[in-house]
Amino acid sequence: MKQAVLVIIKPDGVLKGQVGTIFMKFAQIDLEMIALKIVRPTREKIEEHYRHLKGHKFYEDLISYFMGKYHNVHKLPAIIFYGEKAIQKCRKIAGKTNPEEANPGTIRGACGRITTKGIFENVVHVSSDKSEAKREIKLWFEPEEIPIPLYRSKVKKIDAYKKKVWA
Ligand code: CMP
Repeated sequence: MKQAVLVIIKPDGVLKGQVGTIFMKFAQIDLEMIALKIVRPTREKIEEHYRHLKGHKFYEDLISYFMGKYHNVHKLPAIIFYGEKAIQKCRKIAGKTNPEEANPGTIRGACGRITTKGIFENVVHVSSDKSEAKREIKLWFEPEEIPIPLYRSKVKKIDAYKKKVWA
C-alpha cells in the first residue's frame, strides 16, 4: 500500500547549502516526489505542526529554530514523497532525531549538530506515522497543490474570495 510523507528542510539545512545533498539522498530511496513548494514557517503554522510537543522544555527553542530565528532563513522547501513504505524509508535516510546519535550515513548524522544551547539542529523534518503525515500535509499543502487525490477533498464555493493573479 502506497503512503505519503511530508519532508521539510529546516533552516540549518537551507543556510548551510545542504538542499541539493538532501534531495540526492532522498532520490536514492525510490519514491515519487508528488509535491514540492517553498513554505513560509509562521509561528501559527509551526505551533500547529508541533502541537503535540507543547509543554516540552525545548518547545520554544524548537519554534524559534523552525521559524528561522537562529539562521535568518524564512523560506523552507517542503516535499511530499509517495510510495511503498514511504514514511519508513524517509525516516531511515533522515536518521535519528538526535543528530549526535544519528548514523553518519544519514542526513542528520552527516549534516546535523546539537548547538551549545542544546538545540537539535537536525536538518529535516519527516512525518512520524501515517496519521501525522496526513495532518501535516493538510496543514502545509492545499488539495490543488497535490496532483493526485491523496486525501478526501471537497469543492467549496467562497463568494467573497479574492485571489492574487498575475497583473
Ligand atoms: P522533528 O523530527 O522535526 O520532530 C520534533 C522535533 O523536536 C525534532 O525534530 C527536533 O527538532 C526537536 N526535538 C525533539 N527532541 C528534542 C530534544 N530532546 N531536545 C531538543 N529538540 C528536540
